[in-house]
Formats: sequence, structure tokens, C-alpha cells
Amino acid sequence: MSGTAAAPRRGGTTVTGHEPPQEQAREAAVEAALGKLDLDAKTRLLAGQDMWSLPALPEIGLASVVLSDGPVGVRGVRWTADDPSVALPSPTALAATWDPALARRAGRLLAQEARRKGVHVLLAPTVNLHRSPLGGRHFEAYSEDPFLTGAIGTGYVLGVQDGGVATTVKHFVANDAETDRFTVDNTIAGRPLRELYLAPFEAIVENARPWGIMTAYNQVNGCTMTEHHHLVNEVLRAEWGFDGCNVSDWMAARDTGRALAGGLDVAMPGPRTVYGEALAAAVRAGEADESAVDAAVRNVLRLAARVGALDGVRPAVTEPPQPLDGDALAREIAHRSFVLLRNDRGALPVAPGRTVALIGAAARDARILGGGSAQVFPDHVVSPLDGLTAALPPGALTYATGADPSDEPAPAGPGFTLRAVCRDARGTVVGTAPLPSGQVRWIGDDLPDGVTHDTLHSVEITGTFTPRESGEHSFGTRGLGAFTLTVAGETLYDGVQGMGDQADPFEALFGAPTERGRVALTQDVAVEVSLLHPLDRAPAAPLPGVLFSLVHLGPRRDPDELIAEAVEAARAADTAVVVVATTERVESEGFDRRDLRLPGRQDELVRAVAAANPDTVVVVNAGSPVEMDWRDDVAAVLLSWFPGQEGGAALADVLLGAEEPGGRLPTTWPAALADAPVTEVTPTDGTLAYTEGLFIGYRAWERAGTSPAYPFGHGLGYTTWEYESLDVAPEHATVRVRNTGARGGREVVQLYAAPMTDTVERPARWLAGFASVGAGPGEAVDVEIPLPRRTFEIWDEEAGRWTVVPGTYELQAGRSVADRRLSATLEVRKEAGGDPSVRRVTR
Ligand code: BGC
Repeated sequence: MSGTAAAPRRGGTTVTGHEPPQEQAREAAVEAALGKLDLDAKTRLLAGQDMWSLPALPEIGLASVVLSDGPVGVRGVRWTADDPSVALPSPTALAATWDPALARRAGRLLAQEARRKGVHVLLAPTVNLHRSPLGGRHFEAYSEDPFLTGAIGTGYVLGVQDGGVATTVKHFVANDAETDRFTVDNTIAGRPLRELYLAPFEAIVENARPWGIMTAYNQVNGCTMTEHHHLVNEVLRAEWGFDGCNVSDWMAARDTGRALAGGLDVAMPGPRTVYGEALAAAVRAGEADESAVDAAVRNVLRLAARVGALDGVRPAVTEPPQPLDGDALAREIAHRSFVLLRNDRGALPVAPGRTVALIGAAARDARILGGGSAQVFPDHVVSPLDGLTAALPPGALTYATGADPSDEPAPAGPGFTLRAVCRDARGTVVGTAPLPSGQVRWIGDDLPDGVTHDTLHSVEITGTFTPRESGEHSFGTRGLGAFTLTVAGETLYDGVQGMGDQADPFEALFGAPTERGRVALTQDVAVEVSLLHPLDRAPAAPLPGVLFSLVHLGPRRDPDELIAEAVEAARAADTAVVVVATTERVESEGFDRRDLRLPGRQDELVRAVAAANPDTVVVVNAGSPVEMDWRDDVAAVLLSWFPGQEGGAALADVLLGAEEPGGRLPTTWPAALADAPVTEVTPTDGTLAYTEGLFIGYRAWERAGTSPAYPFGHGLGYTTWEYESLDVAPEHATVRVRNTGARGGREVVQLYAAPMTDTVERPARWLAGFASVGAGPGEAVDVEIPLPRRTFEIWDEEAGRWTVVPGTYELQAGRSVADRRLSATLEVRKEAGGDPSVRRVTR
């Protein structure tokens, strides 16, 4: 048997002068290096030299510190498939494991990847909260619950730092939605700010001592986060003792003096930033304080020293942990994260000898990660079709598309042979580059060999396209600026794509592709393709570089026919497995969702297949909640999230019973968007008021007395558990659970605290702790869950401190917030003298 409880909080981290000798030596080296730098060198160090790195300063033995996204892999300094990375399951999946120790192993693997790629700082984890299921980057954050978010984030940061690589816990704070993300002013009252949104950051600072943090684009209560003196200098640093480096989100630093005063250390990316020369000038003009510059430089040098980029200082980690097998870990996290929401009549696991009809576009073209800056490029992907093909005997599996959730053009893929041709103003070729996927993503100075921004006048994506099917093919563009698109000698577009009302500078990377025309083509008959992009007519791009793509969509098939084929396949098989998915248009960075519907005709597909085969299993390949009004009409619903590169292998493991689905919901799954407690993510006059206060997620559902489709914490396995006893002591609870089934398995034991008599406004209950435990058949396991003082505290806005709320609490142990099996009461009193302590315990 084994168990891992969420780590208890520990004391402050302020630099006191009583640090171990290694830290003292590091601080002395930092001070000495700082003393050797003049103002220009110091201010240069505080600005990115390009998209992903800080300048080297050889005079003090400082190497260039390299930063990279984050969080499911380490992309490195190129935004292309040239430099592949292991792609782990997405953050909602990692959180669904409810296992900080597993998150720590994920972190160690990412550190290993970072070291391999020469990356010192991983731009992760994202610990904003699931305030609303409409949040576009929901898949990239962990949970609606701050405690679970803090525990998983702590494990992740500890793991990355075990490998000697830094993290930037992000996005500090309240970047919980994407609409107008650069400017939105989130107005949040003191208690929810502390008890919900800041809480994961605070827990991670206390328990993992992160070496970095990233300040967000948005404002909180009228002040933009890269200038937030109160939250950065007073709360994060002074109160919590954060001694790491504060890096701006990309292009979030806006004002030299205000950013410096607000505690921002590094303005990213470069070379055009509000720091560097602008900061040196501000100091010389008496508008900025050189001692604040020194403080920021100290933070950068400390970061560099920790990651081994400052000569003469021992890095925090001299011997990285044992190497991990990335493919194996990606597969393990995936099956540990899958949440079995429903399993009627034991439909899963699929019994040996049964035939399977696999259905769905995402079963073949797997959607393994969410879009935006979280994108990495693995060197291989195991789709559900690959996974089941490998695991089932020959002849046991059939496949049908059924419905394609995406009807928009995608980057040019199979059939295209393309390259990029760079020309100067006279039309002379100055360089070329192979372009397997039709995407030019040259950020900053990362241009093909021999090409510089000074000489580059136009880029042409050119080559041939050999269709796999006859019919009408669509072609289009993604990106901003002038384009001429020619296919088979026909000019489909010659014009300029402006910014429109899209103020997001990442539009060229993440924005919607635009169809520019259709051409009838014949199977196997190659045609010439050209997309010319003159750079002189591009709108002023806030993101330096050349970013545009040629996109394509093959002939559309009759959707009724596709569904009919799938129904036929389902009817002919013992079990039908339908993989439904969201698309990059639905879940990505830079915009919020408009609804929770599955795109395309996927709902109709599920209903038709379920009508044809009672043993229909639906696999939901999405990073955040979707509506599933057919859920009670199918035999099983398995949530696979965005499962990473080995997702299909893990899916086969779970569907066929080699592994148990280990996940529990880290977020409440609404039946319909209209039921969700927070559906407003669009600011009014620039302001988004968090009017719901403390009540997001299950806290809100319980207050409203309504039931979601599936509650927070819910998830089934392949064995059964009995909750045998709960003992509560002042500082911990002990829960005994027994595996009463016939196979080994894991259980996530959840402990909720519910105030019985309340004098202040609080949720009915909240997650106080949890533990992920394993046990063999018939075996019992005792798990001890710490009860830190914070469990019983609220933020006292007037006094500006945390305060225990005395009274009787019921502690409830169970399988989800709605399935509570045991309870015990605990008296919490404030001692005379103001020292609060837990007093009397009753069963
Ligand atoms: C995102 C960050 C990311 C950065 C660099 C920003 O747009 O908000 O999460 O780390 O870009 O890619």
C-alpha cells in the first residue's frame, strides 16, 4: 500500500541571515556581481534580449538565461516542430490525478527536458482558478479549488526545481479569463482575493519556494499586475517572503517607472521593452530609483545563480535526479488522470474477446494539448486509433470518422511539399527554409540562415500539393499583413489582413485561419501553391518576427453519410467507443469560450451510435467542461482531457482494463452552461467585477442548492472502496479506507471542512485536505491528512490578517464533495491571549 497526502504548509521563507552556508555564499556572490555592473549593464539585464532570453554579461561570468513555455512540455526557443519535446497531459489532467507526488515527477521530467534544451526557466505552472468554465485557458489551469491548485502546483514546482530548473508560477494574479486580457480590470473583494485567487500562489511560495513568478496582463482593483506595488512588494515579497524573480507576462510591462516601483524585475520579451535603455535613462533623469534597479538585478542574479548561469556560484542542484522515461511518464499520468464519470453495468473495462468500433475524428487525429503558448511539438503522438490498434487482436477493431468537430482550414499537412523563400527588396533570394507544415513562425531574430531583418523584404511559402481526394479544396491564410495566394495558377486572394478589432498581439499565432477560396482538384494530380507575404505592408506588429501560415481543408463529406457509416460500424461491433473533442477554436489562449457545446455534429453522432449499440462508451477529449445531454443514455463516459502524446496508449490501457482510470474531477462539471455559477467573463467598460465573491465552483453550486452533471471530486475506478473510520485530532485527521473489490486500485480520499454554526459568510464546506492511496484487494490503508490552521481561517480585511473562526466544524471524508461517507466534529477555539488553537475533539 502507498499513500501521499497533500503537503502541509510550512513557515515563512524570508531571507533572515540564518540561511544555510550555500545560500549565504550565493547571496555574497550576487552582491559581488552586482557591485561590478554599471547602470547600463544592470538595466540591460532587466530586459529580454530577444523573445526567450536575457543578455549574457561575460564581465561577471553570467550566461544568457533562457526561458521557455510551459506547462506540458518545454518548447525551447523555436516555435516549430524542429525541436521536439515530450508532451505530458494538460494541467486539468494533472490536477485530476489529485497527486502532488506525481506532479513532482512531471516537474522532474520537465527539468530534464529543459536541461536537454538549454532552458533555465520554465514559464509554468498556471495556477489561476477555474472561475468560469468559459475561461479560454481553463485547460491550462488546475482547478476551481485553491487548495487543490496549490497542492498540485507545489508538487510541480518542487519537481522542476529538483532538476535545477526555475519556474515562473503564473499568472499573478486573477488571469482567470481571456476576454480583453491585456486591459481588463478584475475587481475582487479582499476575502475572495486572499481566500481564492492568491491562495494557490501563497501555498506554492510557502511550500516550494519558487525561484520565479510571472505577473499577469490584467489589472486587479485598478492597477495592472506588472505595476502592482501592493500585491507584489507588500504581499508576495514582504508578507510571504518570495525571494525569486518577477518576470512580466509577454508584453505586459507598459511603463518604465511604474513597473520598477511595482516590483517588476524583468520585462519580457525584448529587445523593445520599457526596461533596458529606457530604464537607464529614467534613472539618469531622476525619474526612477537606482536602488530599485539594484533590487531587481539582485533577483535576476539570484535566479541565475540558482540555475547555474552565474560562474563561481554553486547552483541549487548539482546532481539532477535519476533520468525519467518521458514516454512512460506521459502514459502513466494520462491513465492516472482519466476520470470515469459513469460506468453503467460495468461496461468498462471492455471484456477480452469483444470487438470494438472506434468512432470520431479525434480518435484518428488526436487532440493531445490545448492551444496557445502551451503548445509544444512532440516527436510522436499515439492517437486512440494507434493505441487500440496495438492493444487489440487483429480484426477486433474498426474505425469510422462519424463527425468532424472542425470545419475550418488547418495548417497545410499531408500532400504538401513546401518551403519558404526569402527575398530582398530587389527580389533576389537571400535564403530558404524547409516548411513541413506550411507555418512560418520566426520569432525575433530566429530567421533562416543568412537572412536578416534588414535584408528581408518578402517571404513566399511555395511548393506543390498532391490531393489525397478529388473534390473542392479550400485554401486560406493565418496571420496579419499582405498576402497573395495562388493555387494551380489561380489567384485566390490578393489583399491585406489588418488587425481588425483583434488587439491581441498573438493573433498571428493563435488567431482564426481565414478561408480565401476553393479550387476543384483531382486525386493524385499535383498542383503548384504559393503564398506570398511582402513584409513592408504588414501592420505594425507588436510581436517582432515573421508569423503566418498557409492553411487548407479537404473536400467536405456529407455529414449524414458520415454518421450513417458510424452507426453501421457501431451496430456491427460488441462495444462502440466514440471519441468526442473540442477544437483549437474552442479551447485556446487569447479568447474565451462562448458556449460549452461540443462543436459540429458530435452530439448527434453520440445519440445515433448509442441508439444502435447499448454498449456505447464515450471518451471526452476536452480540457474543460462540455455539455453532454446524452450522458445518461450511454453505457460509460470517460473523460480523457487533453492527454498528451501517449494519450492513445493510455486510453487503450484503461478501456481494456490493463490500468484503472485514476482521475477525479478537479472542477465541477455542469449539465448546461446556464447552470454554471459564473458565466460572465466579458468586462463592462473595461471592468470585470467578481461579484460572486467567495462563491465559485462547488462553493457556489452548494449555496445555490443545484446539482451539476458531476460534482467536484467525482470519479469511478475499477474496484470498490469502503470508508471504515475517521479519527480527528487537533492537527490531523486519519481516514481508514478498504479496497473491497477484487483488483488493486487507487482511491483519492477527500476531506472537507464544514462549519456547523457560522457567524461569518462562508461556503457550506471546502476541501481541507486529500490523499491519493493505493491498496490491493481486501487491503485497508490508513491515511493521515494534515489539518493546518489555515483550514479554519478567513481573511480579515479590516485587520489585514488571517483569523481563525472559532466554532464547531464537521470534518467529512468521502469520494467527492457530494459523496461524503464519514464525519467527525472538531471544536475550534481561540485561546485566551489571542493564540488560536484547536481544542476539543469529539467523534
Ligand atoms: C502567455 C504566457 C506565456 C507567454 C510566453 C503569454 O501570452 O500569457 O502564459 O508564458 O505568452 O509565451
